[in-house]
Amino acid sequence: MYLDDPAAFIAANTACHEPPLIPEIRLHLATEIVPIWQMTEEEMAEQGLPPPFWAFAWAGGQALARHILDNPDIVKGFSVLDFGSGSGLVGIAARMAGAASVTCADIDPFSVAAIRLNAQLNGVSVDVTSEDLIDTANPGWDLVLVSDLCYERPLSERIERWLRGYVAAGTRVLIGDPGRTYLPKTGMEKLVTYAVKTTRELEDTDVRATSVWQLLEA
Ligand SMILES: C[S@@+](CC[C@H](N)C(=O)[O-])C[C@H]1O[C@@H](n2cnc3c(N)ncnc32)[C@H](O)[C@@H]1O
Repeated sequence: MYLDDPAAFIAANTACHEPPLIPEIRLHLATEIVPIWQMTEEEMAEQGLPPPFWAFAWAGGQALARHILDNPDIVKGFSVLDFGSGSGLVGIAARMAGAASVTCADIDPFSVAAIRLNAQLNGVSVDVTSEDLIDTANPGWDLVLVSDLCYERPLSERIERWLRGYVAAGTRVLIGDPGRTYLPKTGMEKLVTYAVKTTRELEDTDVRATSVWQLLEA
């Protein structure tokens, strides 16, 4: 039933909360009191459900959203892509901070539903796509935002190659990351670091130093 209706699954399995670093945005999130918090990835896979990345405000996303909300000129008037959007946190922050338009992209249909619900919850409009945009041409985004996507080598390398091409053509690319293993090691400028409160169930620590980086041409 839920496979046909991700929005119903999200409504039944999440609670609305503000991420610790972003009190101005509420999201449908997994908390200790909802069933998906307890379910293992294997149990979800048995039900045909992908891991609920969309149900958490990842440290990288919180840092990037905080940086944008505190420095709205980064997005004001621009056309913005939030790639690998998850809950939609970063895209929603960009729209709240004055982006002219925001596209949230995520290949997980549950994420697509979560982004729509979360945008509605915060009274902002964003476009949402489930198309895999890696290696596609830029239709006109001025700024691309990426957060917490450097957790797998092949994915991280593909994204880096694709987005360095955007940077070479003049598009700004910002990355929020808490020191994941496959974050590019070179051609990056660190802009700011935040201490992001996390949970031990998700990370191995209570607080993660999480930086916002600008991707350079090489
Ligand atoms: C760890 S979550 C981070 C979510 C969000 N950016 C944040 O910081 O809270 C990674 C997200 O990337 C998405 N993802 C993975 N590969 C993708 C791809 N090729 N295109 C778009 N999204 C992708 C996953 O579905 C997941 O929602």
